[in-house]
Amino acid sequence: MNTRIENLTARRARILGRNLTVAYEQPLNIVRGSMQYLYDDEGRQYLDAYNNVAHVGHCHPQVVAAGQRQMELLNTNTRYLSELILDYAERLTATFPESLNVCFFVNSGSEANELAVRLARAHTKARDLIVLDHAYHGNTTTLIDLSPYKHDGPGGAGAPSWVHKVRLPATAGDANQVADLIAKLAAPLCGFMAESMPSVAGQIVLPDGYLGAVYDAVRRAGGVCIADEVQTGYGRIGTHFYAFEKYGVVPDIVVLGKPIGNGHPIGAVITTRAIADSFANGMEYFSTFGGNNVSCAIGLKVLDVVREEKLQSHALRIGEHLLAGLNELNRRHEVIRAIRGSGFFLGVELAHEAGGIVNQMRERGILMGTEGPLHNVLKIRPPMPFSEANADQLLETLRSVLKQL
Ligand SMILES: Cc1ncc(COP(=O)(O)O)c(C=O)c1O
Repeated sequence: MNTRIENLTARRARILGRNLTVAYEQPLNIVRGSMQYLYDDEGRQYLDAYNNVAHVGHCHPQVVAAGQRQMELLNTNTRYLSELILDYAERLTATFPESLNVCFFVNSGSEANELAVRLARAHTKARDLIVLDHAYHGNTTTLIDLSPYKHDGPGGAGAPSWVHKVRLPATAGDANQVADLIAKLAAPLCGFMAESMPSVAGQIVLPDGYLGAVYDAVRRAGGVCIADEVQTGYGRIGTHFYAFEKYGVVPDIVVLGKPIGNGHPIGAVITTRAIADSFANGMEYFSTFGGNNVSCAIGLKVLDVVREEKLQSHALRIGEHLLAGLNELNRRHEVIRAIRGSGFFLGVELAHEAGGIVNQMRERGILMGTEGPLHNVLKIRPPMPFSEANADQLLETLRSVLKQL
């Protein structure tokens, strides 16, 4: 570690909370970003292969310009009429099935999931929720309760009595586990919250038929279905704009975050008129920053860029190229146990912890992360402009790292 990095690391330990972690054995001081590339304080370029927040590319010039223009003009809250928020809400709901036609804007994925829980409780008048094992839904008190990844992990205190966990499915038949659980519940069911492709659990694709059967069971019990699309939305999986569409289901509440502001903090909840009306029970709903003019200008521009640059079909094409290359590596390297995912939402499951490989990839200029309860899944979730040449570079570098294991 050079002295500049050592000094920054020491300053950080003095002034920031100790449970903020840094990535990589040799921490990076990233000072600039451009599309799928990041640059450190010595000007070294890194290929970003896992930051799904910079969805249309780090500092995409059109998104930056939209934010700058609006910051110079006005930035205030939803208590004034504004065409911008209406344009954004109309454009956003147009990406959903017809029944999902009311928007709420907040400032993070956590805030959006938290609001989704409030909406579900207002509508069902019930409290108990079902979640998938190893899930992560956010950092608030309620969401830690709903995130087995946190409450069952270090420092966690387990699930409270109103949270019910089901195991990650291997087949569509595992939906029976949800039906059995519901049959045994002592309290009424509020709903089911899950990522349509569980990410923190290890970049999982749910078996066909599972989500449909679970949604049916939940609705029969009077509950609502909440889809956390914070990681998977906006065309990332290539085949569909949202991952729930892959399974032919329509949720009652959808939660968006990370990519929709391309790094600017925006979260959104999209729901049905009936659920939104249940929530409008006389208590005002207000978020100081949620739906502010600058966020709306940025959010609209992100939607424009995703469409104009045809990023969904790009993710599908390059994702398939990556999958083919990863499957080839799988045939040659015993350490790889499984390759899975869709588009730019891919996972490489290894026979052991993946941290060593991630650190070696970083040394070779490629930034990746790990996922899964055993930290043995390499996640590949790049900014969407990630090119075919970038994919080849990643595959070639991974091949040389695996060879040296
Ligand atoms: C699936 C999922 N939901 C919710 C969140 C919480 O979003 P935020 O960190 O913006 O609060 C995350 C963050 O990692 C996430 O991965």
